[in-house]
Amino acid sequence: MLNQLQAIAPDPILGILSAYAKDTHPHKIDLGIGVYRDEHGQTPMLESVVEAEKRMIAQQTSKSYLGPQGVPGFNSAMAKLVFGENSEALSQGRVRTVQTPGGTGALRVAADLIKAANPAARIWFSDPTWSNHLAIFPAAGVTPESYAYFDKVNSSLRFDDMLESLRQRGPGDTVLFHACCHNPCGVSPDAEQWGAITDLAAERGFLPLIDLAYLGFERNIEEDNLCVRLFTQKCPEVIVASSCSKNFAVYRDRVGAISIVAGSAQKAADIETVIHALTRKNYSMPPAHGPAVIDILLQSNELTALWRTEVANMRGRINGLRATLVDKIKASGITTDFSFLQRQSGMFSFLGLSVEQVRHLREEFSIYTVDSARVNIASFNSSNMDYFVDALAAVLAD
Ligand code: LMR
Repeated sequence: MLNQLQAIAPDPILGILSAYAKDTHPHKIDLGIGVYRDEHGQTPMLESVVEAEKRMIAQQTSKSYLGPQGVPGFNSAMAKLVFGENSEALSQGRVRTVQTPGGTGALRVAADLIKAANPAARIWFSDPTWSNHLAIFPAAGVTPESYAYFDKVNSSLRFDDMLESLRQRGPGDTVLFHACCHNPCGVSPDAEQWGAITDLAAERGFLPLIDLAYLGFERNIEEDNLCVRLFTQKCPEVIVASSCSKNFAVYRDRVGAISIVAGSAQKAADIETVIHALTRKNYSMPPAHGPAVIDILLQSNELTALWRTEVANMRGRINGLRATLVDKIKASGITTDFSFLQRQSGMFSFLGLSVEQVRHLREEFSIYTVDSARVNIASFNSSNMDYFVDALAAVLAD
């Protein structure tokens, strides 16, 4: 039977990892997958996480099962981070947070939950969106659709078109929003625009699903959840898929959470039982290691303060790289305007190159980007940026 299966092309983002690993070019650059890198090209562990991990190992007495909800302290700490300490929905008991294997796990659970609630469910994604959104939801039987978002010509938000698309949505529809640091385009609505989007959600009655993968990477930890707070104040039901991969740098530990906001505390409790039933038949229970570490970190004022500084440092470095890159491109004589890179935030931006130009970068210069020309800005450093700018100039001159 298995003989019937045909090989399929690697994932557009993960495929770059193995192609890059095989490349022997001395100046190769991996601008593909979204991981934070330091000046030496390494993805370091955060000091706050390392210290919390030591404490966790010293305290741990058992590896017995925890149950479908995972680490309870992690769930309540995440709920506060995601919704804010003073969230009314939290104090009313209308929020339930359940640990998942990474943010991707949270998205898959959200997809299963939406499908269970509405077998004919469709979900609207920004155009463009993270490529894996377009795989996860159809895999759960939820049909993907899109709403207007990115203006390729001006590298900015098509805000009026976005509102116009969302005005067509209504009860029974789910709309996914990137809370901050949009993946792949780096363009987010500002506070006023979020106000209008969340008003529209309340008026039209669609279900907001928020992907919160980069909390702390745009403005700061408090402000990056603005849309979560606004949706939760204005809409009776909200889903949030959050990831700790980037902001705690625990990528391979697979740490994330799904949070639901329901119309009442009783309904929230009921929905949590549905989440447990869905995960039981998928991965049974989430892994404990990473969340147990983050639970300890967030319970300690000292480690939380250190972590906040470390997140601010990662954000500051990426913003600095954006500014330096724009300056270097200008100084190189490239006439195309790349100043938009500085108006965008988070790890990603589009370079606006064609697929042929992306291939040219890869084949001649061993510089790897996603085919859409999405680049991970955090992969730049003082040793590779000049090489990159020269290669960009060559590719643009072609
Ligand atoms: C990315 O977009 O590169 C990251 O979110 C990593 C991934 O899993 O795709």
